Amino acid sequence: MFNLVLNSPRGTFDIYGNEIKYRDFIINTVRDLFDIFNFEEIITPAFEYTEVFSKSIGVSTDIVQKEMYTFPDRKGRSLTLRPEGTASVVRSAVEKKMLSSGSLPVRLFYIGNMFRYERPQKGRTREFWQIGVESLGSGEPMLDAEIMWLLDEIFFKLGFKNLELNINCIGCTSCKESFTSRFKKYIGPFAGDLCTDCKRRLKENPLRIFDCKVSQCLEKASGGPKITSFLCTECEDHFEKVKFFLKSLSIKYKISDELVRGFDYYTGTIFEMTSKELESAQNALGGGGRYNKLLKEFGGPDMPAIGFAIGLDRTIMLMKELRIEYKQKKGRIKVYFISTKRPDDLYSLKILKILRDAGISCETNYGTKNIGNGVKKAGKKGFKLAAIIGSEEIKTRTVSVKDLNKFKQYNFNQAQLVKKIMELTGAK
Ligand code: HAM
Repeated sequence: MFNLVLNSPRGTFDIYGNEIKYRDFIINTVRDLFDIFNFEEIITPAFEYTEVFSKSIGVSTDIVQKEMYTFPDRKGRSLTLRPEGTASVVRSAVEKKMLSSGSLPVRLFYIGNMFRYERPQKGRTREFWQIGVESLGSGEPMLDAEIMWLLDEIFFKLGFKNLELNINCIGCTSCKESFTSRFKKYIGPFAGDLCTDCKRRLKENPLRIFDCKVSQCLEKASGGPKITSFLCTECEDHFEKVKFFLKSLSIKYKISDELVRGFDYYTGTIFEMTSKELESAQNALGGGGRYNKLLKEFGGPDMPAIGFAIGLDRTIMLMKELRIEYKQKKGRIKVYFISTKRPDDLYSLKILKILRDAGISCETNYGTKNIGNGVKKAGKKGFKLAAIIGSEEIKTRTVSVKDLNKFKQYNFNQAQLVKKIMELTGAK
């Protein structure tokens, strides 16, 4: 005998029941939009060689420093459960040589579980699901606007009304360098007031101080120079065009000077969709930006790229809190099947097959042979019709069908059964 550990690991959760319905609604909505915006699906492994993430996300970021699930495999190679999807998509696009000139920009989407060793709290878990898109191979500002249009459209179609699209531009490598050296001069004298992590960040990568969750560090960082004042003409011009296209699409946005996002790979436009209804540390439903140097860093062509990811679980959580209903797909006819003569009742099995062959969804009353209990169970499970087969039905080769809403019962012969059920449900 051994004692089973009965709970799921901290920061993980099971998805079932009502959550599945929200999830299906969101996934169906985004799949439809990805089709309209012409993105194709990609599925990458749940783990990669550690370098895929450490090099791209940046060795001094919180994700790489503290949050990755990294382990050696049996041959001692270092693997990491993916903390995000962008690096894997870029790795795959380069490895599989997807970036030939005729197919640019390559437009991919993914839906997958991600893993970050974070302190679990409302809206933040250690395993979570993301829906993401990546467009590889174009640097045009209209594409930035198109990507944010897609993000905006997703939340609009899901039924959200008061979200905020925050945008910023962190410039190219040289803009980032000039900002960093000025920012370092500004923040240096406050070094003593910064947390231990930020003291390290100050030495390794001062921009990462903006990711700090300690309010004192953030306040100090926000009081300093703004990155948009250090943009080169090209980056400034690009950002102006992005804003112009967003305005032309009537997409509301807010310029957010403090937005830097916690990945080193970003260049140029970055953005986040946030909700005031969520706690500020976890108020982002989705975010993304340009990463114009990443393909090259992965050994691919020197091509720009942009993408975003939304948090599926956080989106469901907020939908529930705001009482945004999921729309169910036009459902199938469902019949709860009550047979009192099992296990030898082949007649019931035959009827069950006739109904399922006609596309009617059926569930059988395993566990009870009593009609009253069966009807109660059917009601509890949300069925509106019950098909009942007892001795009399077997003898007369008929099926009794009970309309649970109208409390009416009918008796149909086999040949009529499917047609009559259709009529009862108005499906014809
Ligand atoms: P991210 O901002 O780290 O971006 O994650 C995107 C979204 O995933 C967040 O806005 C949030 O909704 C959700 N999320 C992140 N961490 C957690 C967590 N611990 N628990 C629950 N939900 C979470 C990225 O991952 C980038 N790869 C996005 C991107 C794609 N940039 C360019 N292309």
